[in-house]
Amino acid sequence: MIKVREMDIELYRNYMNELNGKAEPGWQYDETKLCGVNYNDTWRAWVYDRCQQKFRDYKAESDEIIAALDMGKNQTVIDIGCGTGAFTIHAAKYFKKVFAIDISKAMLRRARKKAGILKLGNIKFCKGGFLTYKHDDEPVDAVVSVKALHHLPDFWKLVGLKRIARMIKTGGKLYIKDVVFSFDMDGYESRIKSFIQSMTNRTEPGMKWDLETHFRQEYSTCGWIMEGLLQRAGFKIETADYKDGFLAAYLCTKDII
Ligand SMILES: C[S@@+](CC[C@H](N)C(=O)[O-])C[C@H]1O[C@@H](n2cnc3c(N)ncnc32)[C@H](O)[C@@H]1O
Repeated sequence: MIKVREMDIELYRNYMNELNGKAEPGWQYDETKLCGVNYNDTWRAWVYDRCQQKFRDYKAESDEIIAALDMGKNQTVIDIGCGTGAFTIHAAKYFKKVFAIDISKAMLRRARKKAGILKLGNIKFCKGGFLTYKHDDEPVDAVVSVKALHHLPDFWKLVGLKRIARMIKTGGKLYIKDVVFSFDMDGYESRIKSFIQSMTNRTEPGMKWDLETHFRQEYSTCGWIMEGLLQRAGFKIETADYKDGFLAAYLCTKDII
């Protein structure tokens, strides 16, 4: 059997980029590789959606985000890292237009299917990410991102957030919810262990593997780092809510820069 080496994949990627006229520098973080859990798979997208709904109420969550944004119905929103449409689908019932962006074709396919069933015609789905999505439309009133930014290492989070700031109208909003750490570091081992156990008990055995992968390979960061990144990217933090030591939600406005 022929083994494909990591280096061969990189060379092929660079070759294809050149061929397609995309001159991505060799040092650019490759967000298409997806660290940790692999969402590039139709089955995984289906499992993700099913499992998440065992402990999340997508509608209630989205209503909470829409209320926090406090915007009129005639507004436009980008949902970046939209996944299977947890926010997108409900947001499209409220806002004029939703741009649903994700790096995974499989996740987008599932979100598109759900939007199709509900005959929602005001969603524009695009394959792209924090570092590569190009927003060619008018700047939007708000950007929302739920549980996706942790896929980038901190430096690249800042690059992504600065790119997002350019997609939002001045005075517009940014709502970020993610796995962010705010527990006491002295007890981190037992805190992480008990968090994984309680989430697995609430869902299904496969959740243990997903969460272990999250801690081992993905880039969730500390609350104080996230706040610094948001401010340095040009956002004013209006509220920062930390929950259970593992979740955080930030409502920000784009500062006048
Ligand atoms: C944990 S899921 C969250 C999905 C959805 N927002 C939700 O609330 O269920 C993470 C999503 O982020 C996407 N993702 C990972 N890296 C990304 C990147 N660099 N840019 C955009 N999306 C990314 C994944 O493909 C996946 O759909």
